[in-house]
Amino acid sequence: MKNIVILISGGGSNMAAIVRAAERERWADRYGARIAAVVSNKADAGGLATASAHGIATAVIPHKDFASREAFDAALAQAVDAHSPALVVLAGFMRILTPGFVERYAGRLVNIHPSLLPAFPGLDTHRRAIEAGCKVAGVTVHQVTTELDHGPILAQAAVPVMPDDTAATLAGRVLAQEHLLYPRAIAGWLADTSSHND
Ligand code: GRF
Repeated sequence: MKNIVILISGGGSNMAAIVRAAERERWADRYGARIAAVVSNKADAGGLATASAHGIATAVIPHKDFASREAFDAALAQAVDAHSPALVVLAGFMRILTPGFVERYAGRLVNIHPSLLPAFPGLDTHRRAIEAGCKVAGVTVHQVTTELDHGPILAQAAVPVMPDDTAATLAGRVLAQEHLLYPRAIAGWLADTSSHND
């Protein structure tokens, strides 16, 4: 069984979309894959209850308990490795990971970023897209490398920017696409890695 571990920091709506897709599309039968655990750096992340409700193991590694990024990432890696992951999915995980962590999961660590990368890496993407006068915005699923919000692009979806958009209305339109794109990109990754193993 290919174990997927999802890292979250907040509401976890992308995580929930992935969990629902895994159930609906029977990823266990189709790809021999399952969501093994959801790990959060915040104890009050709303997504933890959603994961538990779906029978998924959860863990909390509060970053504030650690004196350095390296110490936090070491504890995080221990929690992740407890599930022997084939794939580690960052879904609204709001911590910058150390190169050591990223390299440990090289080729099996993916992220979703709410812009059409390479435009607008970092925070506050929707406001920046509106201020730049973009007519199109969107979302990117990419492999994680040591450079923030870079790495090979796996999938993208675009949405229009409307003349009266605020950062919040644009974020909502993009988020609806995130919920479609991320499960699809992961299923594509699982299909690819299954056929390589055949
Ligand atoms: C998403 O827009 C994601 O792209 C960004 O943070 C948001 C997380 O939302 N990095 P959720 O926790 O998945 O609901």
